Amino acid sequence: MSAPEILTEREEGVLRVRIHRPDKKNALTLAMYAALTAALNEAAQDVALRAVVLTGSGDSFTSGNDIADFLAAPPTGEDSPVFQFLAALRQFEKPLVAAVNGLAVGIGVTMLLHCDLIYARAGATLAMPFVNLGLCPEGGSSLLLPRLIGYPRAAELLLLGEPFSAEQALEWGLINGIGADADATLELALVRARRLARQPAAAVRLAKRLLKRNETETLRETIALEGRHFIELLNSPEAVAALRTFVERRRT
Ligand code: COA
Repeated sequence: MSAPEILTEREEGVLRVRIHRPDKKNALTLAMYAALTAALNEAAQDVALRAVVLTGSGDSFTSGNDIADFLAAPPTGEDSPVFQFLAALRQFEKPLVAAVNGLAVGIGVTMLLHCDLIYARAGATLAMPFVNLGLCPEGGSSLLLPRLIGYPRAAELLLLGEPFSAEQALEWGLINGIGADADATLELALVRARRLARQPAAAVRLAKRLLKRNETETLRETIALEGRHFIELLNSPEAVAALRTFVERRRT
């Protein structure tokens, strides 16, 4: 499955995956999730590909799920494209490197929690406003975020939906480094990805599996549980009203 908004490019054992819908801040549609999943599956199966770099076009990494899609074609279960994508991310055995070229919202942040190395542009803003929209954490964030940055900070980010900067993320240990601009950020990510691609493949794969071993089963269960609640909440009056407000604000 491909989509014109997901661009892939191979070089030196690295698959670059670019979210390319800049006029909509790279908001993710059903077709884009399916194409992202296909790209990860392609990289998983191709022995010549040793690492993946995820990035976005324009001034955003991604503004998260397309909000109009949440209303028109909400996910219904594990077969839905967003959950297929989360499963592919969770199960991906090769190194994943993110170059966060700008704004990251919602799943734009939670997907980073599954990456191995993360670089972000100086001044980039990140936010997980699930609760603000009447929704709940997804993508394993309710498990991974408090583990990574401690409960109090995770509560601020998830219960209040407070935005935070790339610089704060670096200080908290959520990301590995900061690039001065989008190009420098991508270069930081590519340099690391190429190095990873030159490491012994089986050893890298095993090391990643060992690093993630303690959370594998709990993470699978957490994503499934979050997903069930998320689907329920998407139909709640609060969420429908919040999502409609966003869509209708655009039409006036
Ligand atoms: N879904 C659908 N469309 C989106 C979108 C999303 N998640 N994020 C941005 N867009 C669209 C806007 O509707 C707008 O389209 P238009 O030009 O046809 O009106 C375009 O992208 C530019 O966005 P705009 O809001 O004008 O840019 P901004 O710089 O003022 O704000 C955001 C950017 C990301 C802060 C704002 O668009 C936003 O809050 N988006 C929703 C993020 C979100 O809640 N994601 C889901 C979390 S679960």
